[in-house]
Parts: sequence; C-alpha cells; structure tokens
Amino acid sequence: MYDRNPTLESLERRIDESRQGEVYLKGEELSSGRFFYIESYGCQMNFSDSEIVASVLAAEGYAPTRDLAKAELIFINTCSIREKAEETVRKRLRIFDQLKQQRPGLLVGVLGCMAERLKKKFLEEEKLVDLVVGPDAYRDLPKLVRQAEEGHRAINVFLSREETYADISPLRLDESGVSAFISIMRGCDNMCSFCVVPFTRGRERSRDPFTVVAEAADLFEKGYREVTLLGQNVDSYHWKNPETGEQVNFARLLAMVAEVHSDLRVRFSTSHPKDMTDEVLETMAKYENICKYIHLPVQSGNSRILALMNRTYDRTWYEERIRAIRRIVPDCAISTDIICGFCSETEEEHRDTLSMMRWANFSMAYMFYYSERPGTLAARKLKDDVPLEVKKRRLQEVIALQNEISLAHNQADVGKTFKVLIEGDSKRSTDDFKGRNSQNKMIVFPKKPGLKPGDYVFVQIEEATSATLRGFIASP
Ligand code: SAH
Ligand code: SF4
Ligand code: F3S
Repeated sequence: MYDRNPTLESLERRIDESRQGEVYLKGEELSSGRFFYIESYGCQMNFSDSEIVASVLAAEGYAPTRDLAKAELIFINTCSIREKAEETVRKRLRIFDQLKQQRPGLLVGVLGCMAERLKKKFLEEEKLVDLVVGPDAYRDLPKLVRQAEEGHRAINVFLSREETYADISPLRLDESGVSAFISIMRGCDNMCSFCVVPFTRGRERSRDPFTVVAEAADLFEKGYREVTLLGQNVDSYHWKNPETGEQVNFARLLAMVAEVHSDLRVRFSTSHPKDMTDEVLETMAKYENICKYIHLPVQSGNSRILALMNRTYDRTWYEERIRAIRRIVPDCAISTDIICGFCSETEEEHRDTLSMMRWANFSMAYMFYYSERPGTLAARKLKDDVPLEVKKRRLQEVIALQNEISLAHNQADVGKTFKVLIEGDSKRSTDDFKGRNSQNKMIVFPKKPGLKPGDYVFVQIEEATSATLRGFIASP
C-alpha cells in the first residue's frame, strides 16, 4: 500500500507515469487557462486525497497539468512516516523554490502529513512555501489560495472529528481508467508507539457507506473494474446512521460494494491483526469479486517487541489470524509490513521476525528499518538504541529472506491459470499486457487482438520471478 523508502528517481518516474493521461489532457482542453500541478508521496490515502484536492480546485476553475512550466499553483502532498520520506519532500521543495525565484507569482503549497506535523514552522523556518494545508482542510483551499495570492500567509491545519469528504467526487488523476481508490475512513485511533499517523491524520472516523457504494457504482459506470477501499485500519470501520441507528461494519460494507456488480473487483487496505474478524473473511469467501488478498502488517515476529510497539497483539494472536485466513479463504495471499531494529530489539528477537516470515509464507512484504518520529510514544519513552549499521544489516537479512519466499511463492503458481484484470501495457513492451490476479500478483502476457484494459482474461503461468509472473492467454 505504501511508497516504501523510494528513491527520488523512482518516485519521479512513478509520478511521471501516473501523470500521463487522458484525464489531464481533457482537463487541459477544458480549462480556462489556470493550471495546478500536484505531486503525491506516501501511502495510497495521500494519492486518494490528491484527487479530492484536484476536485476542489477544478470547481474553482483550475485544471490539473503535469507540466510544471504551465502551473500557477504547485502542490506537494507529503508524508511523514519516516525521516527519509520527509527528506525527499524537502529536496523537492528546494527545486520548487528555484522555480519561484524565476517566476514571481508562482505559489507553492504543502499538503498532507508533513504540513500537519510541522504546521506554521513551514512558513516561518523554511520560507519556501506559501500555503500549508493539513489533510482535513482541503475544502478551505480556494480561500487559502486567494489569501496566498494577496500575499498573506495561508495556513489551515485544523484536524476534524467529522470530515470524510463524503460528498466530494474525486477528480481521478490516474490515467488507467481501470482501478481506483475509495477512502472509506480517515485518521487512526491506534497508538502504535513508532507511528506518526495518529498525530498527522487525527481521530478515526468512518464515511457514510451509501456514499462509498455510490462512488463505486459511478466508477463502474465509467468503465472502472477495480476499487480499493482505503483506511489505516479498515477492520475498525464503523458507521451508525444518526437517524435510524442502523449500523454498518466493515464486513457489511465489503458486501455492499461487492454487490455493485460481479465484474467490479473489490480490494482493501490496510487490515490490522487485532481487528480482522472471521466475518470479514467469510464475506471474502462468499463473493468471487472480493480479491483473495490481505495486507496484514505484522511489524515484528517477537511478542516483547510487539508489546513495546503497542500493537496490542502478540505472535500467537497473529499466527491464529493467519490460520483463520487459511481456513476460511484458502486461496488467499497475505502480504505484510516489517520494521527492523526497533528500540532494544536483540539478535534473537530479530530472528523471531525471520522465523515468522518463513512460517507465514508472505507473498510480498514492505520492509523498513526503524526511524524515530518526533512526538511518538517511542520517541518519548524508548531509546532508539539499535545502531544504524545493525538496523541496516537486519533489514538486508529480512529483504533477502523475503525475496527467497516471494520467489518460491510465485514459482508455486507456474502451471496454474488465473483470471486477470488487464490494467494496460507492460512496462517493458507494448506487445505485452500487464494485469493482476485476485491474489494481487502482477502478471505479464502477450496481447491478443480485441482485448483492452478493463477486460478479464484467463492466463496460464509459464515463468516466475520474485516480483512478476509471466504467462499466455488460455481463454478470453
Ligand atoms: N495503518 C497501517 C500502517 C501505516 S504506516 C498499519 O497499521 O499497519 C505503513 C508502514 O510503515 C507500517 O506498517 C510500518 O511498517 C511502517 N512504519 C510506520 N512508522 C514507522 C517508523 N517510525 N519507522 C519505520 N517504519 C515505520
Ligand atoms: Fe500507525 Fe498503528 Fe495507526 Fe497503522 S494502526 S496508522 S501503524 S498507529
Ligand atoms: Fe505517510 Fe501520512 Fe500516509 S505519514 S504513510 S502519508 S497517512
């Protein structure tokens, strides 16, 4: 789900890829001549929020552009999850500042988690930016832009208990037209000791399920064939109708979205081991179009470290949840997040993480070394005492092991046939399509005439690497 320690270059490439498209061209044609440029970092929630921002700005007559030279407004939607994520943003801000020197009147705005974390420090210390807008204040953007245009400092970092942007129809910035994100909740009420998200995103709140279903139905009408329901902890989704008292939990919401159309694939992220219920698993098993894939961050395989992380489950609990997945949704792939070198982690405890990975047989993992974040419980109460070289070495061991496990996991698919949703051309060749199976594995295969992105095909797997499967169309 997340952009994990990406290099600036890979980020730029991805931003570039995601900026090429019809939506932009259409927007540019329709525009009255005022353009904004937006770049997003961090998790899918941020990418999804940028589409809310785009929608708010479009209503003011601004069209999105991917050409920096055309833009009057530059926005950077930022992430604070690790120090490196913030460094990347600061580098970009320095580049934008050079543009500002050359083009007076150009405005630069910082959005998202770093805006929320640093607040007015951004305006005072950095002097690089004109607007600072937190994740719950995007409705206020038109006013803030006007303030900045008049030369005033523009800032709104108010965190709301209610805002879900439920009534704002996102302006899709991704060109694929096949797969879209839908935010179902915002914020996080957990207090994992390493994590900055509760501070940058505020309290957890769930969005009206009927607006979620309406958005999914609208996307399906427009030709989309996959939606990913987003939240920091989707399993704690909970909505209560203020008038009737009717309640909707995550399992119910999943079923509601799955029923929009059997050709609409439904994915979700992220699940929390402490909250993932059998009811959700049973709903997954019941609907063919709910993808058989769960991202279930374990963080560590050692119960003492899990307690220090305040994850509120231990290794035995996590193992039991994996057994439940295997029992109820036998063909489900499971991926995870891992943090290496958390405060006081010993070699033996690190080896518990390695053994957990082998046991769970994760199809994929996002792996990091611990980065202390100011203000978090761990920063205040625990010592960041694992030396950087040890953290890095442990991370290398974790990555090497996961590569081995992913390769074996993928090789076990050789000879099998999967239903694949075509997403577009493969990165390497326009003769090949790429798409995913239900288990979220990327599959590349030669094109056949008459097929297009958004179509489903059955692909038989011939070859596997640790990252991709390759095959041929067995039947359309
Ligand atoms: N809500 C999700 C995760 C959000 S952050 C969940 O609870 O699982 C995404 C991932 O970043 C986390 O799962 C964790 O592995 C990693 N992460 C968060 N804070 C971190 C930190 N301070 N240092 C290193 N990795 C961190
Ligand atoms: Fe952070 Fe924990 Fe909330 Fe995930 S569940 S966003 S790791 S506090
Ligand atoms: Fe980063 Fe904020 Fe997401 S800190 S991971 S962009 S919620």
